[in-house]
Amino acid sequence: MHTNKESSFFLILLIFISIPLFLSAGKNIHVIIPKPQKVLSGNGTFLMTKQTRYLSDTSLAQNAIAYLQNHLKQNAGYLLKRGSDSKVNTIHFHYDPKKIKKSEAYRLHIEKNKISIKARDKAGFFYAVVSLMQLMDPAIWGQKGSGRKQKNWTIPSCTIEDYPRFRWRGMMLDTSRNFFSKDYVKKFIDRMAQHKLNRFHWHLTDDEGWRLEIKRYPLLTKVGAKRGPGTKLPFSTYPALRGQKNKVQSGYYTQNDIREIVAYAKARAIEILPEIDIPGHAKAAIVAYPKLLQDPKDKSSYRSVQKVANNTINPGMESSYVFLDNVIAEVSRLFPFGYIHLGGDEIPKGAWKRSPAVHRLMQKKGLKNAKEVQNYFFTRLDRILAKHKRKMIAWQEVMQGKAKLRQNNIFMAWKSKKAGVRMIKKHRNVIMTPVQYLYFDQQYSRSKKEPGHTWSTPVSTQKTYAFNPGNSSYIRGVQACLWTETALNEKIADYLVWPRALALSEVAWTAQKKRHWKEFQKRASGEGLKRLKAQGVHYRPVVPIR
Ligand code: ACM
Repeated sequence: MHTNKESSFFLILLIFISIPLFLSAGKNIHVIIPKPQKVLSGNGTFLMTKQTRYLSDTSLAQNAIAYLQNHLKQNAGYLLKRGSDSKVNTIHFHYDPKKIKKSEAYRLHIEKNKISIKARDKAGFFYAVVSLMQLMDPAIWGQKGSGRKQKNWTIPSCTIEDYPRFRWRGMMLDTSRNFFSKDYVKKFIDRMAQHKLNRFHWHLTDDEGWRLEIKRYPLLTKVGAKRGPGTKLPFSTYPALRGQKNKVQSGYYTQNDIREIVAYAKARAIEILPEIDIPGHAKAAIVAYPKLLQDPKDKSSYRSVQKVANNTINPGMESSYVFLDNVIAEVSRLFPFGYIHLGGDEIPKGAWKRSPAVHRLMQKKGLKNAKEVQNYFFTRLDRILAKHKRKMIAWQEVMQGKAKLRQNNIFMAWKSKKAGVRMIKKHRNVIMTPVQYLYFDQQYSRSKKEPGHTWSTPVSTQKTYAFNPGNSSYIRGVQACLWTETALNEKIADYLVWPRALALSEVAWTAQKKRHWKEFQKRASGEGLKRLKAQGVHYRPVVPIR
């Protein structure tokens, strides 16, 4: 028998010995980005090997299982067999709408001999697998060519209960200013999915290039997808902003490309929002079809903020609406998502001023000024979208004055968070994408060495992380935008996006009170970057910024 004194000594000793064990056991479960809502540590580890089996009672888990299998095949050299075997460990996928109440939510329970995954929809199962993979060695994220196969993977025991803060967790890629290959677009989407981002906003048209095949109007891509010096008019739209030194950026996505990418995104729980930017930012379309989109008697002369001359579709010409109706018909068939983005940003001052067609329209409809003409244009476009069973998303400029647009449309606040708050006061649905926090085309910091734009404030990873979108039910979510005037190639695009997108994912997913910069910084600069490195992302190497 020990005396009381002795036993308390041993108890204290025991506590001291086990603290490091607790810490190490606790440490490696806190590696997931975005940070889950709830993580509880367990005992021991699950060892995934060639003998591990899986079971599923739902087809909703198929995409998730396929995603895990692809990565195992690539980086372990085997696929998991379906079935159960009492001698080895098993991963169970259960459809459980009683226990899992929220959409996109999941419960991941890891024990020594069993992993149990519960969800109620495809996204939930997918996110459970993504979290599971983030608990494995970062080598699981390796892409083709990385070589070495790792047979066994230890996964720490824990229980995770998780669901997103916002339904809309987006990133935009501008493929007009610079064209990006189909393969790069897929990579961009895949990396979003790994971080539980679920809306890919695809900026497909702008002054510098029309990048989407439209069967009805072949010149949109034959003429409008070629840009820059070296190509003669009319086979050139607006010369590259970057001048003579740079290569012509030509290219477009065929309708088959689009279908392939839509399916690729869907398998990763991502919806694609196509953007056809009108009536401004439309030089490429106008150069391709001037007779349809411009008033031949228009004497207006103006430049956009980006200095593009006369780049705005004419709202007084009936042919503009016929054209847009036909384009939207094809876009609706290609993109199953219920929304189409119609731009509406930065209509240059002076557009339509001296257009007789617009003057006739104003007289006929009693429109007093350019604002009212713009509202008329978007009201008509809203009806066209309704005909094609689509809702509108547009930049904040569209929600001006007394715009009579359907209540279920959504507007993107890009100039500031305040702009979003103003629209919320008008009872409008908003996606927050303020330049000061979420424009990834901006430099990380002011330095000649940093790529990116300088027209707004620098956007450090810490700045992105600091963004709190607010709590109104009108806020559908958040989104970051990568405009690509200065993203001349994939490496620069990668650099501008990562690691800022790690911060974005947490702003979009994790409860505000669970977010702490210092703790995120550690996780992101450790495991976060390791996972990006394993797949060859050309990220900006430091998350820590003073
Ligand atoms: C925008 O940045 N023009 C939406």
